[in-house]
Amino acid sequence: MRDAIITGWGKCLPPAVLSNSDLETVTDTSDEWITTRTGIKERRISHVEMSDLSAVASQHALASAGVAAEDLDLILVATCSSDRMIPSAATMVQGKIGAINAAGMDLNAACSGFIFALSTADQMIKTGAMDTVLVVGAEKLSNWLDFTNRSTSVLFGDGAGAVIVQATDTDSEVGLLAFELGSDGTAGDLLCVPSSGTEGPADRPELPRIMMEGKEVFRRAVTSMSDASTRVLAAAGLDIDDVDLVVTHQANVRILDATARRLNIPPEKMFVNIAAYGNTSAATIPIALAEAIEEGKIEPGGIVLFAAFGGGFTWAAAVYRWGPRVESLGTSQAQLPPNHKTALELLAGNIAVHGTGV
Ligand SMILES: CC(C)(COP(=O)(O)OP(=O)(O)OC[C@H]1O[C@@H](n2cnc3c(N)ncnc32)[C@H](O)[C@@H]1OP(=O)(O)O)[C@@H](O)C(=O)NCCC(=O)NCCS
Repeated sequence: MRDAIITGWGKCLPPAVLSNSDLETVTDTSDEWITTRTGIKERRISHVEMSDLSAVASQHALASAGVAAEDLDLILVATCSSDRMIPSAATMVQGKIGAINAAGMDLNAACSGFIFALSTADQMIKTGAMDTVLVVGAEKLSNWLDFTNRSTSVLFGDGAGAVIVQATDTDSEVGLLAFELGSDGTAGDLLCVPSSGTEGPADRPELPRIMMEGKEVFRRAVTSMSDASTRVLAAAGLDIDDVDLVVTHQANVRILDATARRLNIPPEKMFVNIAAYGNTSAATIPIALAEAIEEGKIEPGGIVLFAAFGGGFTWAAAVYRWGPRVESLGTSQAQLPPNHKTALELLAGNIAVHGTGV
C-alpha cells in the first residue's frame, strides 16, 4: 500500500523575546491578565522575514529526514503573512534552500493552514503525483500587531515549523488515516486583517492590523475543533482512548482546555507550548509537533490527533498514525543571521505607525 509519512521535522523561532512585562509598557495590560486569560507568558518577534524563518525550519526538517533539497518535488507553505503577494513564500523558500526540482505554492487557511497543507501533501503523494513534499507552517504576524487593541496585541507571535512528507510502501496503514477540512466564509469579518491585500482605495491611509471578535472566535474554535476531531476519529474507526497525543493549534490555553474537556482527553495527552510562543497561527502545529518529538512524546506507531481553527473561518482535524522512526537521521547547522535588537526595538516601526495603548 502506498502511504505518505512524516520523515523529518524542524522549527525556527526568532531569538527576540517579547514578554508580558514588555507588553505592559506598550499596551494597557498586565502579566497577570495575559497569563490567566490566555496562558501566554512570552512570544517571539522576528528580525528577518517569514521566508527566512521558513527556510531555516525547512533545512532542519530536510536534515532530520536525511533528504537533500534537490529531492523535493513540492514545497507547500501555509501562511497568512507572506513577505510579498508575489512571489509566493514557497518559491522564496525554494530559492533559499536550493530545492531546484521542486514546485512551490502557498496555502492560506489562516491558523488551520498547516493541516490543510499536510493533507494536500498526503493526497499528492497517495495519488502518485509526488514522492517527497516539504510542508511549512510559518508566520510573521508581528507586523500587524496593533498595540492600541489589547485583546489582539497580546496573543500573536512569529515562528516557523516544517515537516518532510514522503511516500512509503507499507502493509498496515500509516500516516494520515482521516482528515476533515472546513470553512465558513460568512464569518470572515470576525477575524481578519483588513486592507492587507488589494482591497480599499489605493491611497488608503492605514497599515494593516489584526481585528477580531475574541469571544465568538473562542466559542467557534472550541466547538469546531472538538466536533471535527470526533468526526475524523469515527472516520478512522478509532476512539478517543486510542489517541496517544493531541497536537492542536495553540490559540489560547483556555481554548485547549475546553476542547480537551469536550473530547474527554486527559491533560497529559494534550501538547501545550503556548506559554513560550503565543499564537503563531499556521506555525503552531509544526512547531509543537517538532517539540513533541524532541521531548519523546511520540512513539513509533503512535496515534496523533491534530486539530486547528482560524480566520475564514477555517477548521481542520486529522488522525495520524506515526511511522517507524521518531529519531532524526541528521542535523543541520542552518540558523538565522544574528539579531542585536530587543523585541520592543524590532517593533518600534509598528508602534510609530499604530501607536500604543498606554
Ligand atoms: C481575546 C481573549 C483572550 C479575550 O478574553 P476574554 O476572556 O474573552 O475577555 P473579554 O473580551 O471578555 O474581556 C474581559 C475584560 O478584559 C479586558 N481585556 C481584554 N484584553 C485585555 C488585556 N490584554 N489585558 C487586560 N485586560 C484585557 C477587556 O477590555 C474586558 O474589560 P471590561 O470587562 O472592562 O470591558 C479571548 O476572547 C480569546 O482568546 N479569544 C480567541 C482568540 C484567538 O484565539 N484568536 C485566534 C484564533 S485562531
